[in-house]
Amino acid sequence: MRELKLVAKDTNIFLKKILKKQKNTKLLEVIKYGLFPGGKKIRSKILVDVGYIFNINYKSLIRVAAAIECIHAYSLIHDDLPCMDNDKLRRGKPTAHIIYGESTAVLAGNSLLTLAFEILSDDKFNISNNVKNELINLISKCSGHEGVAGGQYLDLNYEKKNVSKKKIIDMQIKKTGMLFSFCCVAPVILAKKNNLVKRRFRSLGNLIGLLFQISDDLIDLKGKTRDAGKETGKDKKKGKATLIGLLGYENAIKYKIQLVKKISEQIKHYDNRSKKFKQTINLIANRIK
Ligand code: IPE
Ligand code: IPE
Ligand code: MG
Ligand code: MG
Ligand code: MG
Repeated sequence: MRELKLVAKDTNIFLKKILKKQKNTKLLEVIKYGLFPGGKKIRSKILVDVGYIFNINYKSLIRVAAAIECIHAYSLIHDDLPCMDNDKLRRGKPTAHIIYGESTAVLAGNSLLTLAFEILSDDKFNISNNVKNELINLISKCSGHEGVAGGQYLDLNYEKKNVSKKKIIDMQIKKTGMLFSFCCVAPVILAKKNNLVKRRFRSLGNLIGLLFQISDDLIDLKGKTRDAGKETGKDKKKGKATLIGLLGYENAIKYKIQLVKKISEQIKHYDNRSKKFKQTINLIANRIK
């Protein structure tokens, strides 16, 4: 039932419902442009898969998914700006700053980030205030200088430099892993599990993020712009620090396979409820877009 497409559809429906209630501003138009038609919604799918393991109510998961997708969409709008990766194509369309200009793209990105907090702190989110607070606290930490923003800083700072494997991994965990980590821990928070379980799922999320980013870097190396919906072949030109650049193609593939193994080992404790989760992991490992 809850395949990727369905999760994507439900997340989009939820987001549209939220946006419909907001005042119609110019930035709202840009926010919509950044959200729809959306990307794969793979973070939402991981969240739903882990939510299933802990028997969390689907409606709550979709609200959290919507918040995560807002932060992800903001990070992409900013990532594409001329001061960052300077990209003109995203999800098969011109990037937000190409259509609306840079300052408007920056402001729409900011608004998407705060929209995530609005969605989670909403009175209609029917969970205890303690749990809500913990979710908002974690998503904030994952997005800021210790998370996505910090990772993006390092990604840009490492361009055209010799960077160690440890540093590349740390950078990729921050820029990509932390959002996946949030998706893995949020259901654990909703299930009111202890800190040990939270730590376990946080490190699981980091591994998924690394796997996701290796796949993304492989798409950049070998993939077609037409499939990816974004210009490929750019990382090398820009001198991006990636594991492929450091280890070479063959070793990067081996590393990817190792990551998939590690992820399934970490989840084996939940074998009877993790079938969908494992399918999603394979999807991430073998994706072409
Ligand atoms: C792209 O993320 C940015 C990275 C973290 C590598 P996605 O590949 O999930 O982007 P969409 O949402 O599907 O477009
Ligand atoms: C972006 O990584 C990660 C973010 C946090 C946005 P990339 O710069 O490799 O993502 P793409 O290839 O532009 O989607
Ligand atoms: Mg980037
Ligand atoms: Mg980029
Ligand atoms: Mg990339």
